[in-house]
Amino acid sequence: MAKRFQHILPLFSTILLLVVTAGESGSYSKTIPFQGYQPEKLTHLHFYFHDVISGDKPTAIRVIMPPVTNSTAVSSFGVVVIADNLLTEGPDPRSKEIGRAQGMYASTDMNILSFTMVFNLVFTEGEFNGSTVSMYGRNPIFSKVREFPIIGGTGAFRFARGYAQPLTYSLSGLDAVVEYNVFISH
Ligand SMILES: *[C@@H]1O[C@H](CO)[C@@H](O)[C@H](O)[C@H]1NC(C)=O
Ligand SMILES: *[C@@H]1O[C@H](CO)[C@@H](O)[C@H](O)[C@H]1NC(C)=O
Repeated sequence: MAKRFQHILPLFSTILLLVVTAGESGSYSKTIPFQGYQPEKLTHLHFYFHDVISGDKPTAIRVIMPPVTNSTAVSSFGVVVIADNLLTEGPDPRSKEIGRAQGMYASTDMNILSFTMVFNLVFTEGEFNGSTVSMYGRNPIFSKVREFPIIGGTGAFRFARGYAQPLTYSLSGLDAVVEYNVFISH
């Protein structure tokens, strides 16, 4: 039975090709099957983020200090910090560097201390060397449970989405070491 249809198949392909070609001409968009499509993977990353504000080698710098009002006094509302923070394998800043967190955070809650985080995680080690992940989210820093969406990526992390869970590991003055667990589908 199957044999009867074999000669029809090339005809179908030709018709399909004609339809696709017709759709392309003069149109501003084209949707094609994703050539490099592979089933998605889930990658779990675990590392430590070093937010160093004090000392002679800070990696996070306050660039905007709003005028002091009652609301800024409570939550530092309006403060903007630009950071190029070290990411390491262990909690010790001298442990193996795996990348940098480059971006900014801004105090955007009038009532509690909570930041809006806008970061690119730039990996410099292992199979993800050269790949980046974009992280964006709300960070009420004194809450135990916090979560930021992963909203995209480059290189090995193209089409990334997922979430990051930060956990404050240690605080000394304003400097913080934050443990991160990041789950990425890509
Ligand atoms: C700040 O709070 C004090 C005490 O509650 C109040 O008297 C004052 O008007 C407030 N100032 C501003 C700028 O809101
Ligand atoms: C990461 O990639 C850069 C650029 O290709 C290369 O110079 C560097 O040696 C790599 N680092 C590691 C640890 O493989």
